[in-house]
Amino acid sequence: MEIQIKELSKYYYTDGKIIKALDNINIKIPGKRICTLLGPSGCGKTTLLRCIVGLEKPDSGEIKIGDEVVWCNKKGINIPTEKRGLAMVFQTYAIWPHMNVYNNIAYPLQIKNFPKEEIYKRVKKILNFVKLDGFEKRLATNISGGQQQRVALARALIAEPKVILFDEPLSNLDAKLREETRKELRNFLSELKITAAYVTHDQIEALALSDVIAVMNSGYIVEVGSPRQIYFNTTHQFVADFIGRANLIKAIVKSQKKDKTIVDSEIGTFICQKRDFPVESKVILCIRPEFIYLKEDNYSGEGNIITGIIENLVFVGETCEGEMSIGNKRLMIKIESESSLKKGDVVNFVVSSDHCLLVSD
Ligand SMILES: Nc1ncnc2c1ncn2[C@@H]1O[C@H](COP(=O)(O)OP(=O)(O)OP(=O)(O)O)[C@@H](O)[C@H]1O
Ligand SMILES: [Mg+2]
Repeated sequence: MEIQIKELSKYYYTDGKIIKALDNINIKIPGKRICTLLGPSGCGKTTLLRCIVGLEKPDSGEIKIGDEVVWCNKKGINIPTEKRGLAMVFQTYAIWPHMNVYNNIAYPLQIKNFPKEEIYKRVKKILNFVKLDGFEKRLATNISGGQQQRVALARALIAEPKVILFDEPLSNLDAKLREETRKELRNFLSELKITAAYVTHDQIEALALSDVIAVMNSGYIVEVGSPRQIYFNTTHQFVADFIGRANLIKAIVKSQKKDKTIVDSEIGTFICQKRDFPVESKVILCIRPEFIYLKEDNYSGEGNIITGIIENLVFVGETCEGEMSIGNKRLMIKIESESSLKKGDVVNFVVSSDHCLLVSD
């Protein structure tokens, strides 16, 4: 079930000021896929989810779930939350501490007066699905954070929603549990084949979980694409800098080849991924530190060569991270952890043109 959002805006008025929480949002969240809304704190992610669910009233625009328009300012349509066929899992889980696991999960069916036997059957099935068999009688507060998260998920799934919305559901878990739960969640959701919109400000979570990522900033959507598109081929400086890390270098387009763009930059001439900027336009060259490789002595490829002086390197386990300088410019680098390079070494590096991204200045 696809979610389609057209020209959606939501303003808040506080202390005589207008906050544009959502500023003309247009996005299609594809059916049966996991779409992540990713962006820094305050960019409007929660507001967008709350509008989809029906907990906020947008100031303009339209929201369509499947074939049904559930919100439209112009037509005065506002389908109430409970009739939108959605379920939502909040950051805080919002499970009831005084209830046991069984009743927490059964609640959405109990309030709809489902027959007891039907509820029992469905709860058993879903408990098995979220790997919590045998936990029925435990109080919701007497289980771990990861288990509570699964109770919240089970409760969201029990009414068999067409769409499920998650607002940072893993942010209360420690790093390891977060990673495990993320994998489980990905498996659940792809098995269930339901539409999921997932809010996070954690880029690794977004890359690992999503079929589609929508990167947001200051109330608008900057770019939408698959995790690989967003990581390898972004066309936005904000995205390059927000997803992972990127060296941003001022450059001017010098010529356009069939499948490459050549620029003169602060640190020399670079052959880059093809982008249709006019010759002489000012651009920003983005190079991720992990794509700057040490040049082997017998290297004969066509990559861009950079000669720099090592400024600092810190061992962080899997790799060494640090900086090199080229004239006045410093670039972040990431090299293998067993390297014996040290401050002051003059080193040749290689960056393939595919990893040189050009974005608007
Ligand atoms: N009820 C409210 N009244 C006034 N301003 C609000 C309200 N809710 C949100 N805002 C403002 O709207 C903007 C978007 O908030 P939102 O909660 O959607 O951000 P977010 O992307 O979910 O951030 P976070 O990652 O911190 O949860 C922020 O500037 C926020 O301060
Ligand atoms: Mg939020």
